[in-house]
Amino acid sequence: MKKNTVVTLAAMKARGEKISQLTCYDYSTARLMDAAGINMILVGDSLGMTMQGYQDTLPVTMEEMIMYGRSVARACENAFVVLDMPFMSYQISVDQALENAGRMMKEAYVNGVKLEGGKEVYAQIQAITSAGIPVVSHIGMTPQSCNAFGGFKVQGKGEDSARRVLEDALAVQEAGAFAVTLECVPQKLAALITKKLDIITIGIGAGSCCDAQVLVYQDMLGASGDSVPKFVRRFANIGQIMKDAFSSYDREVKAGTFPAVEESYVKSDCSDEFLAQLDREY
Ligand code: KIV
Repeated sequence: MKKNTVVTLAAMKARGEKISQLTCYDYSTARLMDAAGINMILVGDSLGMTMQGYQDTLPVTMEEMIMYGRSVARACENAFVVLDMPFMSYQISVDQALENAGRMMKEAYVNGVKLEGGKEVYAQIQAITSAGIPVVSHIGMTPQSCNAFGGFKVQGKGEDSARRVLEDALAVQEAGAFAVTLECVPQKLAALITKKLDIITIGIGAGSCCDAQVLVYQDMLGASGDSVPKFVRRFANIGQIMKDAFSSYDREVKAGTFPAVEESYVKSDCSDEFLAQLDREY
């Protein structure tokens, strides 16, 4: 396998090959994804929900993103690692966006950054890409705007909304993004956007026509509770496997059957005589 880059990923789109992306937030899981051949890993600010237990992504900070991003980046020999810019780390000004994108590249040592928004963040995308930092844009249902949307709702449903999503896609491409995430966008609109754009479209709840697909990894592993969005497919039921393992451990510890002799350091014990002496001395 060789390192996925903006060049190899663009070539995959040109050849009509689909691109895989998953979210990830830790070193051990990232190693498994990298070895499995996942092309792109997103250290998403969804970690606010999946790793920190918040209701949405708004409380996540730059420091937290950098900490999680660094762990994932260290694990990836092949996957292209993208780090999400958290809420209010790029909306205030172009200078703020550039400075924070630069920090993420230097301190987390990732391959690119992602930020939410279309036309309204045109100048930010332009400035970040001009500094040589690959940008993934994120439009449609942008979770950092969940309060403005009144929840996590499908975008681009009516004609005005569909036009807005398409115009946002064209704007982020013109600004310099090399890929755009389309979240919760109707399938035919996502297909039209994919046809109109030269850059890579990454779908999540946007149908099968996008160039790439992304899912939150706990969702696709069946490890995020019972209620998941309609677009999630469970590729395994790791949540149940983990629960069963935790219960077995709990049972065996309480029954005294773990650890067994083979799981203990027996050979390196001192002689029985010496241990008896220690017993008497103390
Ligand atoms: O934060 C995230 O994980 C994301 C994906 C859902 C695309 O933005």
